[in-house]
Amino acid sequence: MTVYGRFPSFRARRLRRKAFSRALVREHQLLPSDLIYPVFVLEEGKSQDIPSMPGQRRLDLDDLCRVGERCLALGVPALAIFPVVPDRKKSEDASEAWNPEGIAPRAVLRLKTEFPELGVITDVALDPYTSSGQDGIIDREGYVQNDETVQVLKEQALCHSRAGADIVAPSDMMDGRIGAIRSHLDANKQSQTSILAYSAKYASAFYGPFRDAVGSAAKLGKADKYTYQMDPSNAEEALTEVALDLAEGADMVMVKPGLPYLDILRLVKQRFARPTFVYHVSGEYAMLKAAAQNGWIDEKPCVLEALLSCKRAGADAILSYYALDAAEWSRIG
Ligand code: PBG
Repeated sequence: MTVYGRFPSFRARRLRRKAFSRALVREHQLLPSDLIYPVFVLEEGKSQDIPSMPGQRRLDLDDLCRVGERCLALGVPALAIFPVVPDRKKSEDASEAWNPEGIAPRAVLRLKTEFPELGVITDVALDPYTSSGQDGIIDREGYVQNDETVQVLKEQALCHSRAGADIVAPSDMMDGRIGAIRSHLDANKQSQTSILAYSAKYASAFYGPFRDAVGSAAKLGKADKYTYQMDPSNAEEALTEVALDLAEGADMVMVKPGLPYLDILRLVKQRFARPTFVYHVSGEYAMLKAAAQNGWIDEKPCVLEALLSCKRAGADAILSYYALDAAEWSRIG
């Protein structure tokens, strides 16, 4: 980096002195159009609070539509939906995952009918549907089987796409699923559906509140996801995962979680220069919310700073449970 002058002829504080010059030289900005709102959708019953995620709710379809309307009003371009499935519909083979009458396709259809211009993203993974709470089909030892799972994921993605999903987002971390899903969609006249690959998805403890929200925590029990999600110690491996997913046809790639993995986000964006999203996950939301509710931090500036850091690190878009709040705050602020 070239430095054009030295103190005292150069003073870094000169441009920081006034608000107008701070605004002019600002390098990054958080906009409502950078945000995607993840929402939990209920198969049955009325909307419910989620204790470990204060301010977030499991939504019935009517409330989901209200939220969709709010996204559009605030300039948030897309929703990502996560189904909450009753226990009796969970099974070993996760067959509910590609039931065209299931809650995910029904939610997509409803949203796309009422708000055609709102982007709808669906989660492709089996954890809401398996009796094990794992993202795939397990064998006798409880090992998540790769190729068997990919066969189901293909059908799940096709089912979502047929219901009208704009983007399908495999979050399961099986090998080869992006290529398999792309060919299956293309072979079934769904070539316009995009794939957002959760490419660098780490086996993180920050997903805890999400697992409470969808009810997979109880199913998982003491089991973990270490045989498919990435080891938090690894950075180079994330680049391999991203390279493979792009080669297999991913339109966008994702790094997840957010703040603890900003280094990975930066590496991925710099190396591939492709659309790169980040997921500011449930545990990150819960930490900020808890501190704010206790009066220990000032919620609005802390949240905006956290989300801005994702943009600065290279994110094109951010999935965040704070999306609607942040959109509102960044408009006024
Ligand atoms: C599961 C899935 C998870 C999240 C999104 N999709 C949890 C997991 O992998 O156990 C986590 C999101 C969050 O914590 O906000 N396919």
